[in-house]
Amino acid sequence: MDTTPVWFMRQAGRSLPEYRALRDRHGILDICRTPELAAEVTMQPVRRLGVDAAILFSDIVVPLEPMGVELAIVPGVGPVIDSPVRSRRAVDALRPLVPEEGVPYVLEAVRGLASTIDVPLIGFGGAPFTLASYLVEGGPSKNHSRTKAFMYAEPAAWQVLMERLGESVLAYLRAQVKAGAAAVQLFDSWVGELSSEDFRSYVLPSVGRIFDGLADLDVPRIYFGVGTGELLGDMAETGPDVVGVDWRVPLDEAGVRTGPNVALQGNLDPALCLAPWEVIEPRAREVLGRAPGTGHIFNLGHGVLPETDPGVLGRLVELVHREGAVDGDG
Ligand code: CP3
Repeated sequence: MDTTPVWFMRQAGRSLPEYRALRDRHGILDICRTPELAAEVTMQPVRRLGVDAAILFSDIVVPLEPMGVELAIVPGVGPVIDSPVRSRRAVDALRPLVPEEGVPYVLEAVRGLASTIDVPLIGFGGAPFTLASYLVEGGPSKNHSRTKAFMYAEPAAWQVLMERLGESVLAYLRAQVKAGAAAVQLFDSWVGELSSEDFRSYVLPSVGRIFDGLADLDVPRIYFGVGTGELLGDMAETGPDVVGVDWRVPLDEAGVRTGPNVALQGNLDPALCLAPWEVIEPRAREVLGRAPGTGHIFNLGHGVLPETDPGVLGRLVELVHREGAVDGDG
């Protein structure tokens, strides 16, 4: 590639009319569990927007179900868990994920996509803290206080929870790569809730084992969370190849925090995509201009908002391809 690559978190989904049309007929988990439908939705943004990568259509909670967790994804709310995990006993009851048995439909979707598309397919999983936040809270949460209370009050159970989720996510990501995923992203969406000190003692070891455990597969490994400006250095230490940055820290400053060993992904504010193009364009150029020399993948600082005009995303792709780094690495 001779320019900066670009894709968007949540590029498949509600901002696209073709996704909405399909969603009128199928539940989100039905789409995730039907390889042909998951593959179709994965392809929609590639066709329409010309992005440089596809991200598998699924959800971070999908692998929790075969671990013994009953859940639903409620429209406008998010994942909801029937029996929240709030005790050592509930942690011990979580079954380790065996991907070929637990989520065969995900691997079938990956295999089908990998053999047909001409852009790299990004596989993904939820990181231990973020998955734990849904398990402990029982659903979405503003400040994740129940999750943190469990972490502080029952550190031994928490450690087992991080280990169990970490091992399962590692197996899940390895299986996706073996099925044909060309890169993986670990979503730690809500870990920005923690201080650096707590991240290091309660979360970092389990994330480090995931990236270590993927190293031999030789695919780019991306680590991303929202509101993680104060954790960027710690996140780089877990061993990913790329750290995703939200819009709160400019990329040049983020690069100082992450150091010389990782590339950066990001970081246009998704809300900017709702503004007129004249406002968006200089801000997108600024993102490109601030990218460090260690490498850059253009993206938003978090997922595409449902009310975004897909036409704006298409213009962003054109702009990045036209104005991005000529050597493609920052
Ligand atoms: O192109 C893509 O990125 C889409 C594939 C995708 C989905 N979920 C589909 C989805 C991905 C990568 C995810 C990951 C995911 N799921 C994360 C990490 C990424 C992030 O945004 O931080 C998280 C935290 C979740 C949990 C989750 N699932 C939330 C917060 C929601 C939104 C709730 C709402 O309706 O506002 C979901 C539901 C969901 N997952 C939707 C989609 C397209 C929208 C609901 C629908 O179609 O009914």
